[in-house]
Amino acid sequence: MSDGFDQIRALDREGQLDAVLAMPDHLRDALWRIESARLAPMEAPAAFVCGMGGSAIGGDLAAAALGDRLSKPLFTVRGYELPSWAFAGSAVLCSSYSGNTEETLACFSAAEALGAQRLVATTGGKLAEAARAEAVPVIGLPAALQPRAAVGYMFCVAAELAALAGADPGLKTEIDGAAAHLEDRREAIAARALELADRLEGTCPVIYGSDLTAPVAFRWKGQFNENAKLPAFNSVLPEANHNELVGWEGSSEIGRFSCVLLEDSDQHPRERRRMEITAELVEPSAAGVLRLEAEGPTRTGRMLELVMLGDLISLHIATRRGIDPSPVPVIDTLKARLADS
Ligand code: PA5
Repeated sequence: MSDGFDQIRALDREGQLDAVLAMPDHLRDALWRIESARLAPMEAPAAFVCGMGGSAIGGDLAAAALGDRLSKPLFTVRGYELPSWAFAGSAVLCSSYSGNTEETLACFSAAEALGAQRLVATTGGKLAEAARAEAVPVIGLPAALQPRAAVGYMFCVAAELAALAGADPGLKTEIDGAAAHLEDRREAIAARALELADRLEGTCPVIYGSDLTAPVAFRWKGQFNENAKLPAFNSVLPEANHNELVGWEGSSEIGRFSCVLLEDSDQHPRERRRMEITAELVEPSAAGVLRLEAEGPTRTGRMLELVMLGDLISLHIATRRGIDPSPVPVIDTLKARLADS
């Protein structure tokens, strides 16, 4: 049976499909790079991951994977500044794949002004230069990926930041196990992605998560946007049950919206029940309703399985639209115009 990969490869000039499938290798390589960086503990009151887009999602995923094992705050900062309440001495990871993202560079300076303990993850650029000049440790990332395809790396470095800050006991064993889990499940995930792409094609997905799956829903949205060049939306339960649910009533009048519910065995039982009822209530107006769940013994393994699934679906949808998933010229244009102003 075809996995549809040949069709993706025909348009995928930068090899994003192979990068997605290589996530287990990325996880192991990230652990090795972290080990090689010989980072000193950063006992800290809180940890912040500063980044944008593909370089920020690792912070959200790490916080979700750790869940209630976190004993200190772990926040993702998407913007130019750390929050006004950020404590001096906080552990701050500035994560930018290119090393040239202006918001992340601004946070690097803001963290210095705060008296934070800084760490950088990047392939190079101005961020690597600044880190070198200021003797800030750098976890070097491999070049030649799209930033969003480096998600395995970004997740590992964010989890490491939390461990260095003393916010959790460390996820290395669980990450290793997740890499093996993804390898075992690779064919099943590929088959599922093809089937789900059939169901989602031609619709605007609205992706719901809660707890472990909330950042995965956000990841799916971003991958639909950047790879398939389509609008997509994400939302979180239970909040969406108190407002957004009502909007489904009129949805078929304005377009074909699919409802994707990302479930997990660790979710609060009432959240699980809400997913079931939500599926039933939106079904009459939705172009399709998909309830998905990954299996596996660890939060990290299940979470990354859903990430890989969404990534593959976005590549299938891009292919069906005749699009190379990698270039994001409109982001490049925006960055160039900002640089000129
Ligand atoms: O996936 C992408 O290309 C974007 O979301 C980038 O990650 C985002 O623009 C930030 O750039 P960088 O990851 O280089 O800091």
